[in-house]
Amino acid sequence: MSSDYDVIIIGAGAAGLMCAATAGYRGRKVLVIDHANKPGKKILMSGGGRCNFTNLNSTPANFLSDNPHYCISALKRYTPQDFLELVERHGVEHEEKAAGQLFCKDSAKDILNVLLTECEWAGAEIRLKTSVSGVQGIDTGYKLATSAGSLTCESLVIASGGLSIPTMGATGFGYDIARQFGLTLLPTRAGLVPFTLHPELKEQLAPLSGVSCPVDVSCRDQHFREPMLVTHRGLSGPSMLQISSYWHPGDELTVDLLPANRIHEDLLSLRKNKPQSTVGHYLGQHLPKRFAQAYNDMHGWTGPLQGYKNSDLEQVAEALGQWHIKPAGTEGYRTAEVTLGGVDTRQLSSKTMAVLERPNLYFIGEVVDVTGHLGGHNFQWAWASGVAAGNVA
Ligand code: FDA
Repeated sequence: MSSDYDVIIIGAGAAGLMCAATAGYRGRKVLVIDHANKPGKKILMSGGGRCNFTNLNSTPANFLSDNPHYCISALKRYTPQDFLELVERHGVEHEEKAAGQLFCKDSAKDILNVLLTECEWAGAEIRLKTSVSGVQGIDTGYKLATSAGSLTCESLVIASGGLSIPTMGATGFGYDIARQFGLTLLPTRAGLVPFTLHPELKEQLAPLSGVSCPVDVSCRDQHFREPMLVTHRGLSGPSMLQISSYWHPGDELTVDLLPANRIHEDLLSLRKNKPQSTVGHYLGQHLPKRFAQAYNDMHGWTGPLQGYKNSDLEQVAEALGQWHIKPAGTEGYRTAEVTLGGVDTRQLSSKTMAVLERPNLYFIGEVVDVTGHLGGHNFQWAWASGVAAGNVA
């Protein structure tokens, strides 16, 4: 008995659409199923509506995984340059914002349109508003119970993403399927997510909501030198989002507020050359004014520097260069850009993304335990893993 489709892909997001086009071009009869009313919702909301669709400097070092070598093969075989060429073939205007980070000039819709056009050209069918209530392994592949009836396929690709932003359609579907077929899951947690603060610090920082300053934040041997943004809920901005992927509850963050300065030496020389100067004055020269004022007030640094002993200046330098913050938590999946953990990649082929024990079942994109840094790496993983599976499924 022949199957309804050669390949069914669950999830019309970044990875699923890329996989569908790739498999379709190979002449496979492909169906993509999504329960949402629109495809690629996360693409549309990404990069502030302009989709940071890849990063030209992406390397395996930009990814977190319990099995760090897993992502290397797929990333090598489908590179940021490959995706850029696709985008350029479709005439999408783009720009490099921070080093290597490519964004659409106009709108994230352009990237979704590239993928939908590719799917159409490749003959891949997309069915939206369709839910899957059961998946059964059969002799010829898989049988799916869906809201559109029963469907069979030879190869099944799970591209249903992680748990972040449930209001955009995120579900634990992929993890349930992994469990059903006996795969191990690594604990999931929210990544690239703002921190919440304990009430006292939150209150102290409240007047600074909206202020951003370049910092170097570290935690668990990782550090990121990027802007930090104070929000009315806590701490965000690229540096905080990046380090959140490494942070575990109870961990302390260490923030260097003046990473470009040799703070202690600056203060010693200021005391010598301008003894009437104050710490507040020094801060005002190097930090946004509101931040400088509030941080100075928090520490009660008053009076001219000539009144500060060497040990006092050391303490000031430490408070500026090593501000220890213990976040209360994170905003969680509600606002997280990604989900860390997921399907343990040790059970998958790094060449094809197929389950080693079940070569016609594939897991791609965010559902697996590969999570990128901020800056276009997560989409690059979605494209690369989608192509890897699409080439064989
Ligand atoms: P994705 O989540 O894109 O797609 C999964 C699909 O599966 C969805 O369409 C969903 O509806 C569907 N689905 C889920 N459960 C289902 C079920 N039970 N039945 C049927 N369908 C189901 N990355 C980056 O590189 N650059 C950026 O600029 C950004 N910006 C960004 C902003 C915000 C606000 C977020 C939340 C995330 C980002 N990201 C990002 C991360 C990026 O969006 C993410 O890594 C990819 O979308 C993951 O692609 P996937 O295809 O794996 O999942």
